[in-house]
Amino acid sequence: MAWIKFLTEYVKSPRTVGALAPSSPSLAEKMVNDIDFRRAKCIVEYGPGTGVFTEKLISNKRSDTLLILFEYNERFYKQLSEKYNDVDNLTIINDSAEYIEKYLKQYNIEKVDYIVSGLPFASLPKSVSNKILESTQNVLRKGGLFITFQYTLLKKDYIENYFSDISYNRVFINLPPAYVLKCENG
Ligand SMILES: C[S@@+](CC[C@H](N)C(=O)[O-])C[C@H]1O[C@@H](n2cnc3c(N)ncnc32)[C@H](O)[C@@H]1O
Repeated sequence: MAWIKFLTEYVKSPRTVGALAPSSPSLAEKMVNDIDFRRAKCIVEYGPGTGVFTEKLISNKRSDTLLILFEYNERFYKQLSEKYNDVDNLTIINDSAEYIEKYLKQYNIEKVDYIVSGLPFASLPKSVSNKILESTQNVLRKGGLFITFQYTLLKKDYIENYFSDISYNRVFINLPPAYVLKCENG
């Protein structure tokens, strides 16, 4: 069961896992709602965990759209690799999202259209969050979207240092209720 696996990983690494249970399907729906799947050439997901958002990305994406997942936790990475081993144009990387620029260079990808993030910015070390947001800004195309969820709006001002154009919605059907922040790259 996904939530037992999730809770076990949370107990081992509370700061990086950052939540007691996976996000709800309602939150997942909202996270992908603003993606233009017909036009997207490359989508990246940070921190897929057990794959609640990944599921939506895979079921909506065109088969030739590249999807790249960065999952730091080795157990989640292995589960995702087994679950999605037959998906076209999917790459799963067992490393921190901090290093996205290095990996994109390796794959000859210049820009990304959308980055969907499940990262717990509230509990990650500041230096890690800084590096991730700086690199995110560098790799997103102009007008590209960084879509993240947070349980409070405490980090909104901080994210605004990187993305000045942020709109948000609240999703109540999630434990706890969450905010989805849509950040446009200027
Ligand atoms: C709050 S969970 C979200 C999981 C899933 N997206 C969901 O909403 O159910 C955070 C996830 O981010 C991963 N993570 C934490 N720091 C990371 C980093 N620097 N790079 C990539 N993944 C990271 C954790 O291992 C975990 O899977």
